[in-house]
Amino acid sequence: MIKVIATTPYDDQKMGTGGLRKKTKVVMQPNYFENFMQAIFNTIGDLKGKTFVVGGDGRYFNDTAIQKLIKMAAANGVKKLIVGQNGFLSTPASSNILLKNKTDGGFVLSASHNPGGLDGDFGIKYANETGGQIPTKISDKIFENAKVLTEYKICDGPDVDLSKLGRQEVCGMEIEVIDPVDDYVAMMKGIFDFEALRKLFANGFTMRFDAMNAVTGPYARRIFEQELGAAKGSVINAKPLPDFGGLHPDPNMVHAKPLVDFMASPEATDFAAANDGDGDRNMILGKNFFVTPSDSLAIITDNYDKVPAYQKGIYGVAKSMPTSTAVERVASARHLDYYEVPTGWKYFVNLMDSNRITFSGEESFGTGSSHIREKDGIWAVLFWLSIIAATGKSVQEITEEFWHKYGRSYYVRFDFEGMPTEVGDKLMADLENRLPSLKGKVYGDYTVSEAAPFVYNDPVDHSSTKNGLIVKFTDGSRIVYRLSGTGSSGATLRVYIERYSKDQLNGDPLKMLTGLFNAAMEIAEVPERTGKHQADVVT
Ligand code: G1P
Ligand code: ZN
Repeated sequence: MIKVIATTPYDDQKMGTGGLRKKTKVVMQPNYFENFMQAIFNTIGDLKGKTFVVGGDGRYFNDTAIQKLIKMAAANGVKKLIVGQNGFLSTPASSNILLKNKTDGGFVLSASHNPGGLDGDFGIKYANETGGQIPTKISDKIFENAKVLTEYKICDGPDVDLSKLGRQEVCGMEIEVIDPVDDYVAMMKGIFDFEALRKLFANGFTMRFDAMNAVTGPYARRIFEQELGAAKGSVINAKPLPDFGGLHPDPNMVHAKPLVDFMASPEATDFAAANDGDGDRNMILGKNFFVTPSDSLAIITDNYDKVPAYQKGIYGVAKSMPTSTAVERVASARHLDYYEVPTGWKYFVNLMDSNRITFSGEESFGTGSSHIREKDGIWAVLFWLSIIAATGKSVQEITEEFWHKYGRSYYVRFDFEGMPTEVGDKLMADLENRLPSLKGKVYGDYTVSEAAPFVYNDPVDHSSTKNGLIVKFTDGSRIVYRLSGTGSSGATLRVYIERYSKDQLNGDPLKMLTGLFNAAMEIAEVPERTGKHQADVVT
């Protein structure tokens, strides 16, 4: 039986950089989740004959939300849902299933790398038939629809048993429950040389993978331990937990510190990596050595021929604007098309669909290729293992050789968190107004050469997006300012600082960037406006 439920709309359901992300308790308010889902269904329009993929990272409230989603999809006339067993699917696995089955879209219930639990965050990511998250013009329409919604439809039936693989029916809609890992493993086998990687481990190579109690545990166990023969126990925090065991599943130097410390200890393995809550982010570590995500993208691009799927050549490469310029130098040396897009993976989708790029990456620990339309944490790890297997070199050697060849971009991101939204908005607006007056100004050793907002004109759909402010200096250094679009409350100011050196390769990044950090604080009047003299998170 289908019920139509009268509801009062919520007006805060605007999607940000990674879908809708809110405090779990906000999403748990009466009808909140239902309103948002109905706004999406209303935006899509006719749902007859449509199939969607549904999964999540297993965080708190996932199970309840998935049951609601299933019953609403059925009531709205959806033909079929493909659901990961027990409601689990990593973001990359979901994108793969979506594309492989040529479905009409997919939902990943995840707030990505944000903490989970009743006091944590919840989120909903919606991808369309491209396999990637929807463009802004569609999310804007969903937001408009959410604000005027007066009712939603839901099927009045028992919960679906999502532990049972296979087909079942809900209110006339078909549900297929699939193993969340199988198809993903098959895809990885089609990209990488598993035989070569098996040899690497058979020869004694050791690794540690931290799944941070989130969705990638089962994927990593299957691939690294069972398929490739990494020692049992190489994957840690492998059981997905609703609150991620209290961890903040963001694979960086701050939140994955135990892994970083382990790699600096005498017990360190040859290689280590971590993924985030929903498996699209990655961090790469060698023995006592950290690879910045910007360098990782550049090194992967420089080594594309080490992986079978790319040996015949690749299209171009793209990075998000705040990501360091390292990959730009590789693209230029290797004559690859090169694009710089706004922050957010969705901007890579058009470039991939039109065969302009194969690889893409963000400084925020996201790396991926056109095998799917999301970033892919385990893919990045397998790529690094492939480079190691092909060269016989360590993570540190590979990275240092890269610097010798291309020079080094010292790069650090400083986040100023938890400020009132008005403070963040005003800081950015005032800074934007001041940009034209900065040219020629001197800050210590640095002289401003150019200062302007970043504007991206999409070569495919011709949309124009403005995101972030860039201050460039005469020596090639730059400071980028932007506000986060993924927070669940308040504002976060991100300040990205880069300094390039052709021959000074072994400096300490923070020391190398001290002068620019001071300039960044002064230019944006950060202490005066926020009361903060230091960043809350440095990655
Ligand atoms: C952050 C990252 C961005 C990434 C997004 C989703 O967005 O900076 O690169 O695409 O998460 O994972 P932000 O909070 O900066 O808007
Ligand atoms: Zn994520």
